[in-house]
Amino acid sequence: MSAVRDIAVFVGSLRKESINRKLALALAGLAPSSLKLTIVEIGQLPLYNQDLDQDPPQVYTDFRARVKAADAVLFVTPEYNRSVPAALKNALDVGSRPYGQSAWNGKPGAVISASPSPIGGFGANQHLRQSLVFLNVPAMQQPEAYIGGADKLFDASGKLINDGSRAFLQQFVEAFAKWIAVQNS
Ligand code: FNR
Repeated sequence: MSAVRDIAVFVGSLRKESINRKLALALAGLAPSSLKLTIVEIGQLPLYNQDLDQDPPQVYTDFRARVKAADAVLFVTPEYNRSVPAALKNALDVGSRPYGQSAWNGKPGAVISASPSPIGGFGANQHLRQSLVFLNVPAMQQPEAYIGGADKLFDASGKLINDGSRAFLQQFVEAFAKWIAVQNS
């Protein structure tokens, strides 16, 4: 299949100067021409409340439709207290309902975590993978991507300034393109 694949990218941090947002934008620039990466915002989603699904807010409906339309999903996240930031977990929960209509079901996925710490968000990355198993998002296994020292990777304008990291991210996103192709074959 030669069509360009629509990759919905979810950034686990809501702050403007987020390292993870910069990382997501860098990945979009490094992706092969077969993939189009677009950040899908999650900060506008009210905390998931099952009662709301009797008459879902438009932002829930729009978000679910956007996830359903994507060919694959990519999560770029910091670690909060050794786990996934609440905003990202909330987005997973919103997309997973109403029961039996999960927008995530069967979408090929990948996870990348970044932190100023050397551990590179390992805890968040693994906790997220646990949810993805349940949501039936087949997540790429290799290369694993725990980006440590991530506060040193970008200049003030958000440009990636580390050649080793650029090479690794390129490899990661190219492997993801192959993973998506295999999942769709
Ligand atoms: C953090 N941070 C953090 N870092 C880490 O490596 N492991 C952790 O468990 C935590 N916990 C944590 C909790 C909360 C509430 C905050 C606000 C921060 C630090 C975090 O990695 C750092 O702030 C990053 O810069 C956050 O990512 P963005 O916002 O730059 O993408």
